[in-house]
Amino acid sequence: MQQVKLTTPAGATEIVIGELLSSRLRTLEQEPILMIDENVLCQHHDIFEPFRSVTIPSGESYKTLQTVEEIYRELVTLEADRSTLIVGVGGGLATDVAGFVASTFLRGTPFGFISTTLLGQVDASIGGKNGVNLDGYKNMVGNIRQPSFVWCDLSLLGTLANREYVSGIAEVIKYGVIRDILFLEYLEEQMESLLNQEIGVLEHVVYTSVALKADVVQKDEKESDLRKILNFGHTIGHAIERYKRILHGEAVSVGMVLSARLSHLQGLLSASEVDRVEQIILSAGLPAHMELDPEEIYQNIRKDKKRSGEDVHFVLLKGLGNTIIRPIALSELKSILHDLC
Ligand SMILES: NC(=O)c1ccc[n+]([C@@H]2O[C@H](COP(=O)([O-])OP(=O)(O)OC[C@H]3O[C@@H](n4cnc5c(N)ncnc54)[C@H](O)[C@@H]3O)[C@@H](O)[C@H]2O)c1
Ligand SMILES: [Zn+2]
Repeated sequence: MQQVKLTTPAGATEIVIGELLSSRLRTLEQEPILMIDENVLCQHHDIFEPFRSVTIPSGESYKTLQTVEEIYRELVTLEADRSTLIVGVGGGLATDVAGFVASTFLRGTPFGFISTTLLGQVDASIGGKNGVNLDGYKNMVGNIRQPSFVWCDLSLLGTLANREYVSGIAEVIKYGVIRDILFLEYLEEQMESLLNQEIGVLEHVVYTSVALKADVVQKDEKESDLRKILNFGHTIGHAIERYKRILHGEAVSVGMVLSARLSHLQGLLSASEVDRVEQIILSAGLPAHMELDPEEIYQNIRKDKKRSGEDVHFVLLKGLGNTIIRPIALSELKSILHDLC
């Protein structure tokens, strides 16, 4: 078992990484209300069934204000009050929704997460971003509020679909590539074991990823500068995700390779370093390339609601393990994308 403490001005989150952590629910002082992903409840009925719970439907199309409203009503029926502990149980979808509900219901109740997907454990459950989509636009409505605890229960990952598990590895690779060259080397050596969910390797990988993200969040919770580096591969990745029916980590993988190549074009990264990024992604069984229409990517980036003015702020690699944020004018981006794709 490993632990990471994430401290922000508003308080501290205790993040625990290990096996069979969900059994801790029985030891809580107060009886919680679970907000649990429907598939997780179904797969791990024996663990979670004894608790009062509200089910969160699976699928991005349910990540809406309507679902939030329905959950508020269920909380009223369950007579939840301002002191009721809410525990979000599931992947990034369930914890994003549960965190948003818990931080707005009665102006905020205490809450924690049990994270059940690899992507959730290494990324979505860490850092306090909660929210839902609006009219198909991702995470348009939300807030930043840190849970008091996050339990990354490695035993629950066994029931996760392999494609979902591998998709989470993309974010793990991202941490190594942007922030920790030694971790990248470790991943290069241990990829096979990670794919086989060997517990020692898995625990080290989740722990290191969590520690790297927590460090960034602690330094810049509101994403004014440093936290932006976590978007490496995501500007292009999100654009790909919007028009190809693939998983987030798969789109981000292609986005990371293209961003590495863009870094090379800008004289920041050597060709062999680009190759290393590509190789590690391929070794995880993730896509490094995809047939893409540069015009489609361009239009998607242009429409991105998070874009600031006429520039797109790209996270680029300045050598492996290091980043730089460069504004690229939209006018210039079009021809760059034609070169890259
Ligand atoms: N808050 C953040 O900082 C942040 C960061 C990244 C992503 N996200 C959000 O996270 C969401 C994606 O999260 P995700 O990739 O974890 O997907 P998800 O939560 O949709 O889960 C993927 C699938 O796996 C199922 N599942 C979850 N745990 C399982 C388990 N242990 N066994 C069997 N099935 C299981 C779910 O029912 C679902 O069908 C997106 O909505 C994204 O916007 C948030
Ligand atoms: Zn991501």
